[in-house]
Amino acid sequence: MNDAVPSDATSLRPLRAAVVGLGMMGRHHARLLQTAPVVSFAGAVDPGGDRHGAVGDPALVFPTVHALLADPERRPEIAIVAVPTEEHVAAVLELADAGVHVLVEKPLAESPERARELIDAVRAAGVHGAVGHVERCNPALRELRRRVLGGQLGQVFHIATERLGPFPARIRDVGVVKDLATHDLDLVGWLGGAGVTTLSAQTQHRMNRTHEDLVNVVGRLENGTTFTTMVDWLSPTKVRQTRVLGERGMLVADTLTADLTFYANGEVSSEWEAARTLRGVSEGDVTRYALARREPLLVELEGFCALVRGDEDPAAVTLEEGLAAVDLADAVLRSAAAQETVRVLPLRSTHAESLLAPGVGGDPFAGPDGHARRGADALPAATRTEDVA
Ligand SMILES: NC(=O)c1ccc[n+]([C@@H]2O[C@H](COP(=O)([O-])OP(=O)(O)OC[C@H]3O[C@@H](n4cnc5c(N)ncnc54)[C@H](O)[C@@H]3O)[C@@H](O)[C@H]2O)c1
Repeated sequence: MNDAVPSDATSLRPLRAAVVGLGMMGRHHARLLQTAPVVSFAGAVDPGGDRHGAVGDPALVFPTVHALLADPERRPEIAIVAVPTEEHVAAVLELADAGVHVLVEKPLAESPERARELIDAVRAAGVHGAVGHVERCNPALRELRRRVLGGQLGQVFHIATERLGPFPARIRDVGVVKDLATHDLDLVGWLGGAGVTTLSAQTQHRMNRTHEDLVNVVGRLENGTTFTTMVDWLSPTKVRQTRVLGERGMLVADTLTADLTFYANGEVSSEWEAARTLRGVSEGDVTRYALARREPLLVELEGFCALVRGDEDPAAVTLEEGLAAVDLADAVLRSAAAQETVRVLPLRSTHAESLLAPGVGGDPFAGPDGHARRGADALPAATRTEDVA
């Protein structure tokens, strides 16, 4: 561990925290850093100043990371990196080098190579790092995953995600695959309990930009679960939905409203033999769960603070998992460009143990052959890809 800013694993005093980038995302982080009990606010960095009026004390807005770090007495212990994606690496390098633990907004970087460079720098500096895949902190998705891993659906067949809406004009450096679909490419493995093995993608460019503005992905996880992901910046209404279909019914999470609904398969049986043979499932009870709703960004911040304090099982998303999402985004773009299916080869995980199911009602890690895939092979921390015809 870099000793410039030691982490304090024993005391629960607030960690001194800063945010780098005060744009659409950074302003929300700034709000929480000034109010959440787990941190004390050390300042914000943006060369454009505080355009959204997110910081109460103007003296705590700095034009550069260098200026933020200038006073050793006031130096932050942790920093949230919320600059445009292509500038993540430069900001992380400077912060990590000064011994500051970093929570980096998703996507981790604009390419797998840059993501690996970022991870190497964090490891070399000996600081903690995590990536802000905030959807994992959404109460509806957390509860959905808890129920899936608990066996409520029995065997899981398919995961479908939809993330549709109008174009946010501020995004210039990446397309919809890296900016938005990285959420979904992270979620399918997290919810399905296994890594992606193959995917095939189609993109569209309808807004005269360099990058794509619509993507559809069809893929398969290592345990046989299939998935589809639809993401665009072209729809005139915002949709954020994740459906998990299994042998006992379907769970649907709406992450805009944080609602989770269970559509059970009906138990109605038919005495007519011919109809029984042909019949699929029938509609059963529909249940919308009452959920305790906490702000996902606050849950993410608390998870990162727990990681820095040395918590054994923090809710933070590892940098390797962030790299895996960037790798998958890269595979999606290559698949769309080549009009080919891409095979994704999962690598060994060091963080899979905490994701193991409690063993109730079937094994969500069982592969198509019925054999459980446990431990290090259950969920990939990173992937590498190769094209298949
Ligand atoms: N987790 C999510 O759901 C989510 C949502 C939106 C954006 N993001 C991510 O957050 C990051 C920022 O996105 P955004 O929408 O806030 O962008 P934005 O353009 O609104 O804001 C970026 C800000 O960073 C500032 N900036 C640029 N270079 C800087 C530097 N070197 N040092 C300090 N500040 C700098 C800019 O002046 C700007 O104010 C991106 O990586 C994006 O993918 C994540």
